[in-house]
Amino acid sequence: MKPSVLVTKRIYPEAIEYLKQHCQVDYVDNDEGLTAEQFHKRIRGKQGVVAQLMNRFSADVIDSLDGLKIIANVAVGFDNIDVPAATRKGILVTNTPDVLTETTADFAFALLLAAARRVVEAHQFVHNGEWRKWSIDLLVGQDVHHRTLGIFGMGRIGQAVARRGRGFSMRILYHDAVRAPEAVEQELKLEFVSKEQLLRESDFVSLHVPLLDSTRKLIGEPELTLMKKTAILVNTSRGPVADEAAVAKALKEGWIAAAGLDVFEREPEVNPVLLQLQNVVVAPHIASASVDTRREMSMLAARNAVEALEGRRPITLLNPAVWDSLSARSGV
Ligand code: DGY
Repeated sequence: MKPSVLVTKRIYPEAIEYLKQHCQVDYVDNDEGLTAEQFHKRIRGKQGVVAQLMNRFSADVIDSLDGLKIIANVAVGFDNIDVPAATRKGILVTNTPDVLTETTADFAFALLLAAARRVVEAHQFVHNGEWRKWSIDLLVGQDVHHRTLGIFGMGRIGQAVARRGRGFSMRILYHDAVRAPEAVEQELKLEFVSKEQLLRESDFVSLHVPLLDSTRKLIGEPELTLMKKTAILVNTSRGPVADEAAVAKALKEGWIAAAGLDVFEREPEVNPVLLQLQNVVVAPHIASASVDTRREMSMLAARNAVEALEGRRPITLLNPAVWDSLSARSGV
């Protein structure tokens, strides 16, 4: 009998077709997803689940999942899953790295450029019929080229953003818990600096860290006060990496010049102050949202689920310890 998989929310049809070739698929074919109660009913008897970032797999939820072999998350971030709890329970967990790196970096740069050059304000200005004449300081913004870009988190996406910064002849500073390999530092001409130096010297600060206890509120009031008054903050990582109320206050009171924000602490809610400000460009968590990338993410999650359910190592496995112990048990 084919293994059975729950898909908690709409994904690309190619991925559903692929899953159907290998599994019995219980597909929640809408964008609403499931309530906790519905989820508990539908997950019963399933060996796999293709999940999304709003599906919370806390230790309690994971402990209640009997017979589940894999949680295949359709996202590179996996802060919605208690991976150590899944590991203890012997459940494989996968994410979707790589396929979204360049697309996410494109969007971080789009926000950076839009905030620096006031693209959204300019669009609204023309749309509102306010454009009567050209003037020397009409909608003047900040230069991007030859400025200093500070990147928190020099993983795959951080590096892709740095590469874009190099294309704009920017000086690139970075800070991370782990220093990037020397070859990467040299190729991208990166300067590894302290958090304080990055905040003090950068014209643009872009966040590319995963959400962990150590990165929660990485940017709060103390950090915002260290930044230049002309600085621009870009967040395409996770909302709670920046203290949203503090960011709103900093933007309103002019501690920093502008921000481009794709992620928020309590999505889809956005701090109302941010929505009243002209110096913020906001987006609804779409940094990885190109047609090709969202299709690739759906396919990679589906492939991960099928690999695990057919007894092969999933492609982008987050907890190899589970695989090692499964292989040891089956004598592979
Ligand atoms: C991710 O992949 O983690 C994004 O935030 C969702 O696309």
